[in-house]
Amino acid sequence: MSVKSAKLTLEGIEYDFPIVRGSEGELGIDIRKLRDRTGMITLDEGFGSTGSAKSAITYIDGEQGILRYRGYPIEELCGKASFMEVAYLLIYGELPNEQQYEQFGGSVRRHTMIMEDIKRYYDVWPRHAHPMALLSSVVSALSTYYEDSLDPFDPHQVQVSIHRLLAKLPTIAAFSYKKSIGQPKIYPLNKLSYPANILHMMFAVPAEDYGVDPDVERAMDKLLIIHGDHEQNCSTATVRMVGSSQANLFATVAAGVLALWGPLHGGANQAVIEMLEAIHTDGGDLRKWVDKAKDKDDPFRLMGFGHRVYKNFDPRSTILREASRGVLDKLGKHDPLLDIAIKLEEIALKEDYFLEKRLYPNVDFYSGLILRAMGFPLKMFPVVFALGRLPGWIAHWKEMNDDPNTRIARPRQIYVGHNERKYVPIQER
Ligand code: SDX
Repeated sequence: MSVKSAKLTLEGIEYDFPIVRGSEGELGIDIRKLRDRTGMITLDEGFGSTGSAKSAITYIDGEQGILRYRGYPIEELCGKASFMEVAYLLIYGELPNEQQYEQFGGSVRRHTMIMEDIKRYYDVWPRHAHPMALLSSVVSALSTYYEDSLDPFDPHQVQVSIHRLLAKLPTIAAFSYKKSIGQPKIYPLNKLSYPANILHMMFAVPAEDYGVDPDVERAMDKLLIIHGDHEQNCSTATVRMVGSSQANLFATVAAGVLALWGPLHGGANQAVIEMLEAIHTDGGDLRKWVDKAKDKDDPFRLMGFGHRVYKNFDPRSTILREASRGVLDKLGKHDPLLDIAIKLEEIALKEDYFLEKRLYPNVDFYSGLILRAMGFPLKMFPVVFALGRLPGWIAHWKEMNDDPNTRIARPRQIYVGHNERKYVPIQER
């Protein structure tokens, strides 16, 4: 029986609200008229039961561990597509044909350099500055250099700003790393692929030739695809919130970068390695750390475990576990932290605490090990996450602006402060 509406009885009055059905059969109660009709609002701190949009970009089934970009399973895209194909798919809705792919890639390649003036930005930042702070600041500053492409409703300007941002984010990111280690900034080489250019700008030095290892290039491409999009996660919801005020794409993505920085979100990949290092330094007593994670009085959590949506397994974690082994084998590296991570996963997944709370490794649990094997410093981990997530942010910003029904996002609240009271002059307080 297909449910058509939801009934709500308030103070003896019955109200009907329509049911919205998604293309995979998920159901939602459309409460857009709730306040007009009942004078009441809903309360859902953290939005665990609240849908903020209808979207055709990404589908996640947290119970089945399903993740699809525009209908394509992440496992297929990771095995067969390039990141630039996936970026095109997320943003424009279809996989590109050869001509579209060449035009898209060619245009992005022509925008990879940033204005020379912007390089001076890096001079005033302290060397220890976290690159996520730099990334957000420089992305925001791009809006001052490209005032010709800020209108979110002019298709040409939207196209140019999308290509500019996709092209320049890796350059901005790599420049911040070079700044932090006092090395010369390495310009993009447009003959390289997108992932290869990132590795080149990050790890090449002017004094020597640098060749990108094809296996590492493929792992980088896969890592970017894995992070491509994830429906209404914290940073994407931020992008939609900021973009709903009709802010330009650069300002909107700068806000998304800052939301992603948090250790509960994209900053978790950095926090996972810091946790594994602490366990390793502490002698590798996994039982002690698992018990700490279970102890309600201990604020310690197993970073890289748990997810708001995935309640069985995060398909991305499964892919990355194999990829991390592959990169370490290829580079002939043995990382004791990988051994700890695998043992930690084995122990945790036998613990009632984790099984009952349905806490499984998420995308951040293994991604850091791959980045570490590639030579990325800890602070750059969330930055690589941002490079992967960029097409997802762009896709949601574009989908929202293309929807004529979009309104500015402005949630309500339940006020729990003081009732009205009179001003008391300071000498009487
Ligand atoms: C990402 O949303 C997305 O899609 C995000 C992301 C994306 O691609 O955009 O997938 C990327 O951000 C992945 C998540 C990375 N963060 C971490 O790994 C940080 C560690 N994990 C948690 O802090 C937590 O699991 C969250 C933030 C991921 C989810 O938080 P929720 O859904 O609000 O769940 P919760 O904090 O309410 O936890 C439910 C229970 C709690 O216990 P009780 O209060 O019910 O007794 O589970 C416990 C928590 O204490 N718990 C953990 C735990 N995570 C949750 N206990 C120990 N270790 C953990 N990691």
